[in-house]
Amino acid sequence: MGSKVGEFRKKLKIVDVKGGPNEGLDRVGLMIVVAGWVRTLRAQSSVTFIEVNDGSCLSNMQCVMTSDAEGYDQVKSGLITTGASIWIQGNVVPSQGSKQKVELKVNKIVLVGKSDPSYPIQKKRVSREFLRTKAHLRPRTNTFGAVARVRNALAYATHKFFQENGFIWISSPIITASDCEGAGEQFCVTTLDFFEKPAFLTVSGQLNAETYATALSNVYTFGPTFRAENSNTSRHLAEFWMIEPELAFADLKDDMACATAYLQYVVRYILDNCKEDMDFFNTWIEKGIIDRLSTVAERDFVQLSYTDAIELLIKAKKKFEFLVKWGCDLQSEHERYLTEEAFGGCPVIVSDYPKEIKAFYMRQNDDGRTVAAMDMLVPRIGELIGGSQREERLEYLEGRLDELKLNRDSYWWYLDLRHYGSVPHAGFGLGFERLVQFATGVENIRDAIPFPRTPGSVEF
Ligand code: 4AD
Repeated sequence: MGSKVGEFRKKLKIVDVKGGPNEGLDRVGLMIVVAGWVRTLRAQSSVTFIEVNDGSCLSNMQCVMTSDAEGYDQVKSGLITTGASIWIQGNVVPSQGSKQKVELKVNKIVLVGKSDPSYPIQKKRVSREFLRTKAHLRPRTNTFGAVARVRNALAYATHKFFQENGFIWISSPIITASDCEGAGEQFCVTTLDFFEKPAFLTVSGQLNAETYATALSNVYTFGPTFRAENSNTSRHLAEFWMIEPELAFADLKDDMACATAYLQYVVRYILDNCKEDMDFFNTWIEKGIIDRLSTVAERDFVQLSYTDAIELLIKAKKKFEFLVKWGCDLQSEHERYLTEEAFGGCPVIVSDYPKEIKAFYMRQNDDGRTVAAMDMLVPRIGELIGGSQREERLEYLEGRLDELKLNRDSYWWYLDLRHYGSVPHAGFGLGFERLVQFATGVENIRDAIPFPRTPGSVEF
């Protein structure tokens, strides 16, 4: 059965691409095998229709069965129901129905695993909140199947972009002693005696990426990161995946150019390669998402300084919940106003933030008040990317650690990079689940990752 299942997978893709150049008609006459899960089953007096899906694409294969098919008794006796796993052999024939060009005329059906009548993912539409309580079964729905495939495509496109541009992927550690962001939002992982010092789950692979960038030039990480922040919002997770490129011999402008090129590349990639799933999102999740993403893939992004952004927000005459004044951290409502209203849906890169609200490693600007930091803001999400040029001057970096009362000894190896062949360098971090939200239209970040980790939620 194994090889036949593989053979089917290849064929289902071709058979089921709707509206494409190949709608399966050239497969008519072939005998194929389908292995998947029953989505629906409709028994009429002389014929039974079973829609099967194996997750390789959105479309189901319609299988048409009459009483002469081997195994028909299992259908007739009600053993095969929604949710059951089955194996079907049949011939591809032109379909009489309007929904598909071809269907499968079944010769043989085998029940692989029956499904209890309590199966919670029935045909009727169920809410995404409900499905979060069934995280082990939700990938069998259209929405979560499509999100998983597009998430996969975004991950593939991420590696493709960086590899094609000469970056080397490095694995940064998950267990670490240093707090990259210095914000004290780390999960503690072990007792003191194992590592002989406190150890934590990483909040960012950046400091480790810098060590490799100052040897291999351009590198990137792509791995899980963890934040013990008690944020119950639609864009915060306690465990999320981050993509962190680090560029040597580069400044903030190079960093912004890389972030823009990266985002445009991955967006273009899914528009070109995930058409069926993107059409589904366009119809059912966010109307107009294809146009929105197509525009992002093509237009220049807006760039403005933090100081100009504050001025714009003050002049906006909009009632914000959080007060706007120079020195404040931009809140989600401010970020969304800038990208959605002030610049009509265009991504906005805000740069040169006050040093007091940014991390210790960012390069100080000549004005003494701001640092060479940038955040990329996008509609519906707010901050998608946070990055900066790093402080490569030893005396400035040590001064900043002292100002923030961070222990120099804990960062001895990071400071060493400034002792030996220091070089201007810059990088950024992109929260992968926020990118999945942006690219699929799902409103809640809990639906952009297979098993969300949020305060009080670690069941699956
Ligand atoms: O702005 P952040 O905290 O930056 C860093 O961690 C830097 N060390 C990155 C770097 O320069 N290499 O986080 C970067 C991005 C944010 O823009 C956001 O997209 C995402 O990570 N992010 C989160 N995503 C989901 N849940 C959370 N709790 C997140 N916190 C940050």
